[in-house]
Amino acid sequence: MKLSLVGRSSKQSPTLKLNETAAILKAKGEPIIHLGGGEPKGKAPLDAVTRAAALLNSAEVRYSPPDGLVETKQAVIRYTEEFYGVRPKPNQVMISVGSKQALFFAIQTILDQQDELIFPSPHWVSYQEMAKMVGAIAVPVLAEDGGFKPSLKDLADRVTSQTKAILLNSPNNPSGALYSAEFMKEIVEYTKKKGLYLIMDDIYHRLLYDNKKAVSVFDYTEFDENCNIIVINGVSKLYAMTGFRVGWAVANSKIIEAMANIQAHTNSAPSPITQIAAAGALNGIQSGVEAMRLQLENNRNVMYNRLKTLDGLHLTKPDGTFYMFADFSTYSKDSIKLANLLLEKVRVAVMPGVEFGMEGYLRLSFNIPTKQIIEGIERIKWALDPNAPKELYIGERKLVRDWL
Ligand SMILES: Cc1ncc(COP(=O)(O)O)c(C=O)c1O
Repeated sequence: MKLSLVGRSSKQSPTLKLNETAAILKAKGEPIIHLGGGEPKGKAPLDAVTRAAALLNSAEVRYSPPDGLVETKQAVIRYTEEFYGVRPKPNQVMISVGSKQALFFAIQTILDQQDELIFPSPHWVSYQEMAKMVGAIAVPVLAEDGGFKPSLKDLADRVTSQTKAILLNSPNNPSGALYSAEFMKEIVEYTKKKGLYLIMDDIYHRLLYDNKKAVSVFDYTEFDENCNIIVINGVSKLYAMTGFRVGWAVANSKIIEAMANIQAHTNSAPSPITQIAAAGALNGIQSGVEAMRLQLENNRNVMYNRLKTLDGLHLTKPDGTFYMFADFSTYSKDSIKLANLLLEKVRVAVMPGVEFGMEGYLRLSFNIPTKQIIEGIERIKWALDPNAPKELYIGERKLVRDWL
């Protein structure tokens, strides 16, 4: 018996797979350093936890409305007003199971079979799969100048009569690159003029460094019922709440209604327990966000300065997120092979760049304790540098380099 086309062509998420492999090795007592992870390691805010616990303790946990609990939507409305400068109406907001689901429902709502979804590359691993699942065509676009930020011209050159939407993720996973205010203005005006949807994956929008500030798309257009923009966001990264699975979409009410209908018939809505937790995080004490951002900025600097000492490595300092996307092609043109070597030989987990659309690169996360970053990079250097001493100790374990 045959699986459907979608069933046959769906691919495992490489990031989740790496987490699984790293967790298995760790459970076996292996001294893993996980530079591949996509989640902050801090604790969820107390305001989130106490709200969730109170609802759970009531033992009355019911279905949520398909577009989300009123309280969570109100929290998102307030957040949107604070960080985007517009105040959506309740029917312009939907709460979803992580921002991932909001992205998928948005793609499902606006793209038909064979329609094209354009996005800058390097890009997050799931965009392509999501487009494929609705029969649409993913069009990742690399920058002509070889950098991490395809220009408006690079993107516009790929627009055809089948193009329905452009999807932006700024700052970007995996590169950490942030688009300028000037670019955002251009892309907002361009998509509006061309009648294209603009989907903003803003999941990292406040994890920025060097005093950079998030740019709101709504600085350059009205947010009304004719607006072509869908903003996606969530609590996973900013509040260290990846496991709670709460995200949201802000868009015109026609889009939101369609997305909520899809949600109603598939997962109903996120659990009210985690929705209430998200409302707690969004409305509660915010000092944890800034503390995490500062810690990440320090980790980014440590990682950057240490990686810079590897000969031949090409490195761009990320503006935001918690990822560094480094060009390791002088060491290996095959990023899967290189990532496997690092995991196997020195127990350092990193993500191969090819999964994000750029071969020869590795994505290294700096959302782990600074000490582990230092140790991880020391091990990478040892594994790749033929001039390093032949032996390395990891705890009691003596490694002898026999692969260079
Ligand atoms: C660019 C990007 N978008 C969306 C998500 C999904 O986040 P969540 O579903 O946890 O809100 C991730 C998670 O890694 C991501 O990196």
